[in-house]
Amino acid sequence: MKNKILKVLIDQKDGYISGENLSQMFGVSRTAIWKHIQTLKKEGYQIVSVTNKGYHLKRKSSDIDQIALEQITCNSNLVNQILYFDQVDSTNNEAKRLGETSDFMESLIVAREQVKGKGRMGRTWISEKDSGIWLSLLLKPSLSPDMVSKITLIAAAAASGAIEEETGLVTGIKWPNDIVIERKKVCGILAELSAELGHIHYMVVGVGINVSQSVFDESIADKATSLMIENRGKPVNRLNIIKRFVEIFEMYYNQFVHDGLYDSVVEYNIKKSVTIGENVNITIGDGTRTAFAKTIDNAGNLIVTNEDGTDEAVFFGEVSVRGINGYV
Ligand code: BTN
Repeated sequence: MKNKILKVLIDQKDGYISGENLSQMFGVSRTAIWKHIQTLKKEGYQIVSVTNKGYHLKRKSSDIDQIALEQITCNSNLVNQILYFDQVDSTNNEAKRLGETSDFMESLIVAREQVKGKGRMGRTWISEKDSGIWLSLLLKPSLSPDMVSKITLIAAAAASGAIEEETGLVTGIKWPNDIVIERKKVCGILAELSAELGHIHYMVVGVGINVSQSVFDESIADKATSLMIENRGKPVNRLNIIKRFVEIFEMYYNQFVHDGLYDSVVEYNIKKSVTIGENVNITIGDGTRTAFAKTIDNAGNLIVTNEDGTDEAVFFGEVSVRGINGYV
């Protein structure tokens, strides 16, 4: 209903539509219309109401909005609903809250702003209004929980592919979940899981892409970049990136979850890897050690050669590439 009202308001272009007309159109009371208008306003739509004229939508609140995002569900078999927020604590938290409800749908959650954006290892992810893409996918894959790290590589391939297609920029993937441009981080991925007894209840894949920041907090200024910075100020269409991200993610996800195929994800990650061929610091729990990153195996694990010459498959932990700043 709310979105139908929004569509009508958009169709009015520069005109007005009265609460009375809307209530007749949708067969609900004027109070019900008013409540939906209040919700739309909270989501960031600038709707004015003028006596004797009615409601008027002043302008779209950003290059992404609920209606534009709805196109994604039309073309997707994976995403059944889109939730778009003006402000949330964290899209991952929002997805987790939804995942705790019974019979939740696989969803895409997008926010203009996160006030408690989360990074890995308990870090904060700065997510100012409309300065980036802050999204989470809520999924219920029929996989055993140990397969989940593979989904992170799928998200990395999808984010890298979507960014490259929309901007023409060249990205690298720092195994397993950072996208870098010119060795600075532009995108991070945070996967979270709720599982029990070999069964996944839900999985959340959160993706943050820095889009239009021109400066970063001092603490990350030498490690972080945005698409606008790298694209010499050219505007970037966030909607196109989100659309392509979902399309590419869905393609790889279906190949893997339904057909057991994972080769193309690994191939892409190897091709784009900024980790392979480098000395890396691997942090697991409290310990950090140094190794040489050889390749990524068919399962998506990072194969490293330890200082004693033994090879080992690393499938979790924090891996930082020497020479690329610690942030990535
Ligand atoms: C990292 O590199 O440390 C991971 C960053 C992940 C950030 C995204 S933004 C959307 C989603 N919601 C969050 O709170 N975090 C992820």
